[in-house]
Amino acid sequence: MKNRFDMEFIGISENEAFARTVVAAFTAMLDPTVEELAELKTAVSEAVTNAIVHAYPEESGFVVLSGRIDGNTVYITISDNGIGIADVDKAREPLFTGKPEEERSGLGFSIMESFCDSITVTSGLGEGTVITLEKRFGGSKGEI
Ligand SMILES: Nc1ncnc2c1ncn2[C@@H]1O[C@H](COP(=O)(O)OP(=O)(O)OP(=O)(O)O)[C@@H](O)[C@H]1O
Ligand SMILES: [Mg+2]
Repeated sequence: MKNRFDMEFIGISENEAFARTVVAAFTAMLDPTVEELAELKTAVSEAVTNAIVHAYPEESGFVVLSGRIDGNTVYITISDNGIGIADVDKAREPLFTGKPEEERSGLGFSIMESFCDSITVTSGLGEGTVITLEKRFGGSKGEI
């Protein structure tokens, strides 16, 4: 099947669960297993949390969430217009955090990588960040 959605919300912590639930409802069309769905929801939570806590240090800004289903693959894009990431390769390293003083573990990107088939990160300082999570599902409904 083919499907898509786009939405925008303010980057406040209350919207993390909202975004996760939207993705779960969208992905339910592919008859995912409980485990597959939990994995994607966790990856989405990490990306959305990053947009909320890192992208906008001063005032909350907008987060754009988009989803696409193509066959049995789901693509979820989380974008912000925030401060951006100076060194994406470094940020993706396990245990790297830009906020050690807040006791963050620096594992968000590692979790996204382990629970998705692939992730892409595009970012520039002052330009914001775009994360795309790609996950294939085994459910039969997805095959056209
Ligand atoms: N959307 C974003 N905008 C700006 N910087 C970001 C964004 N996402 C990630 N980063 C930077 O990349 C670093 C690594 O992110 P990651 O999610 O792996 O770890 P963390 O958020 O610091 O810790 P954890 O996710 O374990 O709480 C962050 O500390 C931050 O410096
Ligand atoms: Mg994080």
